[in-house]
Parts: sequence; structure tokens; C-alpha cells
Amino acid sequence: MRIALVGSGYVGLVTGACFADLGHEVVLVDNDEQKLAALRTGNVPIHERFLPELLARHRGQRIKFSGDLQAAVRECQAIFIAVGTPPTDRGEADLSYVESVAREISGAVDSYKVVVEKSTVPVYTSQWIRTVVIRNGAEPSSFDIASNPEFLREGTAVTDFLYPDRIVVGVESERCAEVLREIYAPLTSGAYYSRSDAIPRPDRAQVPPRLIITSTKSAELIKHASNAFLAMKISFINAVASICESVGANVHQVCDGIGADSRIGPRFLNPGIGYGGSCFPKDLMAFRAVAKECGYDFRLLDEVIRINEDQRHRFLRKVRGVLWTFRGKRLGVLGLAFKGGTDDIRESPAMLLVQELLREGCRICAYDPAAMDRAKEALNSSVEYAAGPYEAASGADALLILTEWEEFASLDLDRLRKLLKYPIVIDGRNLYDPAVMATHGLSYYSVGRPAALTEDLPAGIRTNKRERP
Ligand SMILES: NC(=O)c1ccc[n+]([C@@H]2O[C@H](COP(=O)([O-])OP(=O)(O)OC[C@H]3O[C@@H](n4cnc5c(N)ncnc54)[C@H](O)[C@@H]3O)[C@@H](O)[C@H]2O)c1
Repeated sequence: MRIALVGSGYVGLVTGACFADLGHEVVLVDNDEQKLAALRTGNVPIHERFLPELLARHRGQRIKFSGDLQAAVRECQAIFIAVGTPPTDRGEADLSYVESVAREISGAVDSYKVVVEKSTVPVYTSQWIRTVVIRNGAEPSSFDIASNPEFLREGTAVTDFLYPDRIVVGVESERCAEVLREIYAPLTSGAYYSRSDAIPRPDRAQVPPRLIITSTKSAELIKHASNAFLAMKISFINAVASICESVGANVHQVCDGIGADSRIGPRFLNPGIGYGGSCFPKDLMAFRAVAKECGYDFRLLDEVIRINEDQRHRFLRKVRGVLWTFRGKRLGVLGLAFKGGTDDIRESPAMLLVQELLREGCRICAYDPAAMDRAKEALNSSVEYAAGPYEAASGADALLILTEWEEFASLDLDRLRKLLKYPIVIDGRNLYDPAVMATHGLSYYSVGRPAALTEDLPAGIRTNKRERP
């Protein structure tokens, strides 16, 4: 099928590349000329595993790039909208990009089209898109609107797309459902998975995925509710981690115990410095705003957001508790991206912590495998950037781990100890076993677990019962 993807960002680019790999003809549309020029010359503007391979495989064949949305609409049967939906000052989703795309689509509807909302949007958006497309001149019977929320995670976006837990499609007509069924048929029939050149299957993937067909409103709510539930899981375990710290328990043992209950499950119980990124923070605020508009005061979401913010402040207090004072201290920082595997720094807890530490007068030497270019644009110029984790640690009063990159979990600990000015590691992502750190002579502080100490510190810090003496 001929498919247009409007918005060639994290979601649009990955979706377009994957649709091409499923055998579709894809036009990737964007209004950012620089991005289009880069894509046409073979550059990949985001860091995402397998994306360069897929783009190289299909560029100039099943994938083309265009700045002409209306021409793409005329050429294609399905048009996926994957533009940004950032938060407004009031926390609602800003749907002006979606609206402007809908307006433009309208003038090019010359035969039956399916317009699919892929962006994360509040309930009723598909109805608004329909209204806007009709207001701007399209025949009501010449198109349908579908909602097809995207659940990919940055860092594993390509495999998440090709090996999804489920595919959700919200429609209002059988004709429209049939188009979406056809688009996803290579996945739902299992045909893609038997191909020798398929992107490798991740460990836990169940194939073929289930296609869940719902109304458009239900599909819109599924996306917001899923993200809210996942964020709630993170805040829940972070709250439990705080209690573990107070009583000297180990949150990983607690996770193991509660995650073994099949009704709860072990996944996504990762204590740390909280969630970030371009989705959870904005989607929670948007869902809360939607609920309010519908007359429901969703206070559970307020608490999820509050715990998440508090988690960062607790971490900062922990760092202060270990270092005593901040001004002039040199800190090695591992990780700036909001999570491992991506260069995305939007709402990154690591970036927010670095900004706070800079305000407190710390000197920062940071390393991130993919996000340093983006971080340089956002942070003040006093930050030094290292070529690797050991350079970041060199001469530092302490090393902070702020993003869960795989490579940060397997550092040469003896080398690290020798490079650090003081053998102190404060880990916001719980990548190491405290006992192992102690055997390498490192004082190690993590989230929700007793510290491993190689030096004598005031009692409150030793027991973790209070953040500061
Ligand atoms: N990033 C994720 O992990 C993720 C996961 C699931 C869902 N989502 C949702 O998907 C949507 C897109 O997110 P993203 O992270 O890909 O955003 P992004 O900012 O990376 O990409 C958006 C793209 O849309 C382009 N654009 C904006 N207006 C346009 C227009 N009028 N015409 C053509 N192109 C236009 C921008 O230039 C940009 O390239 C959001 O609603 C987001 O919540 C994101």
C-alpha cells in the first residue's frame, strides 16, 4: 500500500522505515527542510538501533522524502499523522500541529483516504480531525479517520514496532478497519517473522501480535491510560524505594518478591531518579487535563507526577549528603539522555539534575554515548564533555550515574577507583550490586538500597535513614 507519514521524527521515521520493511511504499513528509535534506543524503537524524539499516535498505526504493504534503496525500491511500503534540502552559496537549496537517490534507482528498492519527492525542481528537477536514472542503464520504496509537519506546523503537505486544486500531467503519488490517497484515499474519532478512526478534516478543480493533475514542484512551499506568508503576516503586531507604531494606529484593506475583509482574519495576522523556510527563498532564474536562478529578495522576519530581530532589539531597557541600566540587556525570539507547534529552531527569548541580556551583564533566550534541545546545557552556566514562570520572570528587546505558553497567571498577579523586559512585539507576562495588573499594550509593561504604561518614548517611546529617 502507498502510505504517507506526516512528521519524520522519532515516531514517523521509525514507523515509515518499518512500513517499508513490511513491503509498503512510503512517503515520509516533514516541514523541516534541513531534516529532509539530511535524510535524502543518507543521514539519520536520531540515534535508534536498526534505523540506519532500514533506511539504507529502502531509501530511494520504497521510501522517499518530501516536503509536499498535498502531493503525498494524492499519491497515498493512508496518511499517518505523526507530528508532535507538546504540552501547552496549562498542561493540555497542543494540537495545533495536528490541526494544521488536517487542514492541509483536506485540500488533497481526491479519492477514498484513511487519515490515521499516530501522534498521542486526547480523546475526541479523531472527531476534531474529521470536522476540520470537512470544514476545509473534503467530502464526508471520501475519507475516514482512524486512531492507531504508537507504543514504541525510544532506544528499542524499531523492534518495538515490528514485534509489538499489540496493535491498537480505533475505527468507525469496516472499510477503514480493512485498510488498517491490510497495512499490518505482514505482522498479524506472521509472514514478516518468517523472512530471513527480518529485523531480529527480541527475547520476550510473542508473535504474531494481536490486533485490537476498537472505537476511535477507546483507542485514544488506551494510549493515555497505558502511559499513565506505566508512569504510575515507576512512581509506585520509587515510593517503595524511599521506604526501603528509611528502614534499611533492599528495594530489589522487594521488587523480586512483588514482581513474582503474576498479577503484578516483574517488568517496569525499576527504581531510580524517575521517568522523563517526551511522552510520560506530557501525556500524564494531558490525560489529567482530559479527565478534568470530562468532570473527573484524576488526583492519582497528580500524585504520580509529584512522586516523580520528588524522586529527583531526593537524589539531589543524597548527593549533597555524601559530598557535604557543592560549590566547586567536580562531578563526573554518566548519562544525559532520558533513558539508555537514545539521544533524546527532552524532559530528561539527568539533564534536570545536571542543571540543578550547575546552579549549586558544581563543576560537571559529562559523558553520554549519544546525547552530548543535543545536551551542548541545552546546557550552559561551563559543562565539560568527556570522550568516555573514564575521562568523565578522572579527578572527580564523585561519579554520578544518571542514565541506564548498557555500557555504564560494565565499567572496569578498579580503573574507575584509581581515576576518581575520591572513590565515590552515586547511582541513580541502580546498575551495580553494592557488595561488588565495596569489594572494588568504592563507596556506592543507589536508590532504595543500603549504601556500600569504604569510609566513615556521619551516621545518617551510613544507614541511609536520613538524607543529611
Ligand atoms: N517519541 C516517542 O517515544 C513516542 C512514542 C509514542 C508516541 N509518541 C507520540 O508521537 C508524536 C510524535 O512524537 P515524536 O517524538 O516523533 O516527535 P518529534 O518532535 O521527534 O517529530 C515530529 C516531527 O513532525 C514534524 N512536523 C511538525 N509539524 C509538521 C507539519 N505541519 N508538517 C510536516 N511535518 C511536521 C517536525 O518537523 C518533526 O520532524 C507525539 O504525539 C508523541 O507523543 C512519541
